[in-house]
Amino acid sequence: MKQYRIAAIPGDGIGKEVIAAGMEVLDVLAEREGGFRFAFDRFDWGSDYYKIHGAMMPKDGLDRIRGHDAIFFGAVGAPDVPDHISLWGLRLAICQPFDQYANVRPTRILPGITSPLRHVTGPELDWVIVRENSEGEYAGVGGRVHRGLPEEVATDVSIMTRAGVERVIRYAFALASARPRKLLTVVTKSNAQRHAMVMWDEIAAEVAEDFPDVTWDKMLVDAMTMRMTMKPETLDTIVATNLHADILSDLAAALAGSLGIAPTANINPERRFPSMFEPIHGSAFDIAGKGIANPVGTFWTACQMLEHLGERPAADRLMRAVERVTADPGLHTPDLGGTATTRTVTEAVIAAIRGDNV
Ligand code: IPM
Ligand code: MG
Repeated sequence: MKQYRIAAIPGDGIGKEVIAAGMEVLDVLAEREGGFRFAFDRFDWGSDYYKIHGAMMPKDGLDRIRGHDAIFFGAVGAPDVPDHISLWGLRLAICQPFDQYANVRPTRILPGITSPLRHVTGPELDWVIVRENSEGEYAGVGGRVHRGLPEEVATDVSIMTRAGVERVIRYAFALASARPRKLLTVVTKSNAQRHAMVMWDEIAAEVAEDFPDVTWDKMLVDAMTMRMTMKPETLDTIVATNLHADILSDLAAALAGSLGIAPTANINPERRFPSMFEPIHGSAFDIAGKGIANPVGTFWTACQMLEHLGERPAADRLMRAVERVTADPGLHTPDLGGTATTRTVTEAVIAAIRGDNV
């Protein structure tokens, strides 16, 4: 029997609760599907680890997960650890060396969930945002001098490379081409940023030549927020820089009803390194430990992980089970306006997987 070795890194806050739920559901799914199973290795890296060891993960951390088939990641961030330390010490410390340059964020309005755009229903909002995930505004280049003095200077330099831009735009075109509508929107800001963003636009036009079946257009990021809210049905696949897509994906998640259901996949398309799957929501310390975190974002990203592993039927079954559950308002957690708990939602998804009807 095929066995997938998964590195589970629950991290901080509700990350621990949703990853536990996710592993449980994946085990049941594998049992129901047959033919494969999971071997989870759990790593207790994160802010608690930092408070003891002075680092978010051990020095040989990357080597310990390099050989796994995928990484199942919860959330990182704690109230008493500065965000830039927790983020750069764990999440980005994995994404960047493992060259997970395509960050894929699907958004849909799942059954039973109401969008804040009251008139918009499921089929009118079905997007995938591809976020450049290795450079750009998150390159980490910059510095601070003359701290505290009136002449203090601080810079965060956005780095865009031809290779880095081309590969993510190519990934987005290929993804758009594989989706039924074959529609891609390239987000830019080349009216104001006249170097890197102009190169970004030029590369998009070059790559487009290799994908004659894809209809594509270009959209300034500010205008894009309006189009997402006013004409969501005109969008399908979207590609944007690291920071632009960070912002747009929160808007997308909100328009789909809740950040609690949004998934994300950090993909190394060449498979030289394991890819990493996580819910978009953070560690949410305000609700941590209460058992009310929405596990749907984690289940959905588990679907992305199954697809990446080549287990498409299992991914589809899990998604059908999740949709069955979201369709029932009695199974909505508080982020969706309900009173359900992580446990009841997880049990309902498990029951749907075990039943014959999904
Ligand atoms: C995301 C998050 C992160 C990001 C935060 C936690 C730094 O907002 O995954 O979208 O900006 O990349
Ligand atoms: Mg974000």
